[in-house]
Amino acid sequence: MKKVVLAFSGGLDTSCAVKWIQDQYGLEVICFSAFIGEVKDKNELRRKALAGGAKKIFVEDLKAEFASDFLIPALWAQARYENGYPLATALGRPLIAKHLVRIAEQEKAGYVAHGCTGKGNDQVRIEVGVRTLNPDLKIIAPLREWEFKTREEEIEYAEQHKIPVDASKKSPYSLDKNIWGIAIEAGVLEDAWREPPADAYVMTRGLDKVPAKPKYVVIEFEAGVPVKVDGVRKPLVKLIEDLNATAGAYGIGRFDQIENRLVGIKSREVYEAPAADVLLKAHHELESMVMDREFLHYKKVLSEKYAELVYYGLWFSPLKTALDAFFASNQKRVTGKVRFKFDRGHAIPVGRESKYSLYHEKLATYSKGDTFDRTMAEGFLKLWGLPYEGMASAPMRRDHKQSKT
Ligand code: ARG
Repeated sequence: MKKVVLAFSGGLDTSCAVKWIQDQYGLEVICFSAFIGEVKDKNELRRKALAGGAKKIFVEDLKAEFASDFLIPALWAQARYENGYPLATALGRPLIAKHLVRIAEQEKAGYVAHGCTGKGNDQVRIEVGVRTLNPDLKIIAPLREWEFKTREEEIEYAEQHKIPVDASKKSPYSLDKNIWGIAIEAGVLEDAWREPPADAYVMTRGLDKVPAKPKYVVIEFEAGVPVKVDGVRKPLVKLIEDLNATAGAYGIGRFDQIENRLVGIKSREVYEAPAADVLLKAHHELESMVMDREFLHYKKVLSEKYAELVYYGLWFSPLKTALDAFFASNQKRVTGKVRFKFDRGHAIPVGRESKYSLYHEKLATYSKGDTFDRTMAEGFLKLWGLPYEGMASAPMRRDHKQSKT
């Protein structure tokens, strides 16, 4: 019997998909669940998958790989889509694509399947990822094909086939969470004018619930990688998870934006990314201190491009790989500390230091001890301004002579 590997979340859609794929395609279904943030009950996942008729299920904790191979490159790239969203969901999909392909090859399955809708970006990220890595695999997207129009119809189908659903636990929103953040969509959030209700937020406290007293937090980097918080060394995943809790308690890392989806639709998106927001700011602060102006200004342009590539599902593309090499090139220097004040929804950088610092107080100072040679300024300014001399008052050079022809 031919086989399919299905990316399985245990939610209603993928639970129904197990049964639906078997019936429509006559394939043996193997489920695959990746833990990259939300750690679900393994046994519960297994129970649901097998109840739908899956032959087996792989449940794998991939947080460490996610952090080192996906989040670190995104941190180095300063990747934020449309100036806000740190791309948590978009970064998780290529990891899922990669492992779908691995398991399909290992299990000799000719198909992979996913539970993404036909309107969103996630289908693009998974399918383009899979096709880049193994173009021989066929892809099934039940949500683009099946006849169910509403959630109720799906629940009815599940009940008919004895597929367990916990409809009571269902949030009124569509959520996708990992350690880099959560995306919250649908329900009342679709009204772009309406403020997201307090219950929409999962990782951050509202400003009415945050501590009144600010908190100082020091983040330390070694060669671009955050390694310590307040002097305590932690593995990357733990550092991110702890920072989600600390910064989240101060209401840090909320985003509410109108976003341009790849499929052309504008959507209203609410995100929370407490650790990502702080780490991106921290990394930027340190890089600003250790790198020169030309590099920093040019990097901004590339960061924007990089965020687009990630958002558009082009993680495994040559340009993205080349840009990774660019962003990695200076990370040795990104070593040092950044001091933050967490205060009522804000992570405010208030101090930074690095052994690679290009900031020299003696050059910058307006006080005693200034070592800057101000006599150099005059000659520099003459040359710097030379191309512009007189341009504003006399658009044509005064010594211009009409040629006689
Ligand atoms: N708009 C975001 C993105 O494209 C979030 C998608 C959320 N996905 C989900 N399955 N709820 O990355």
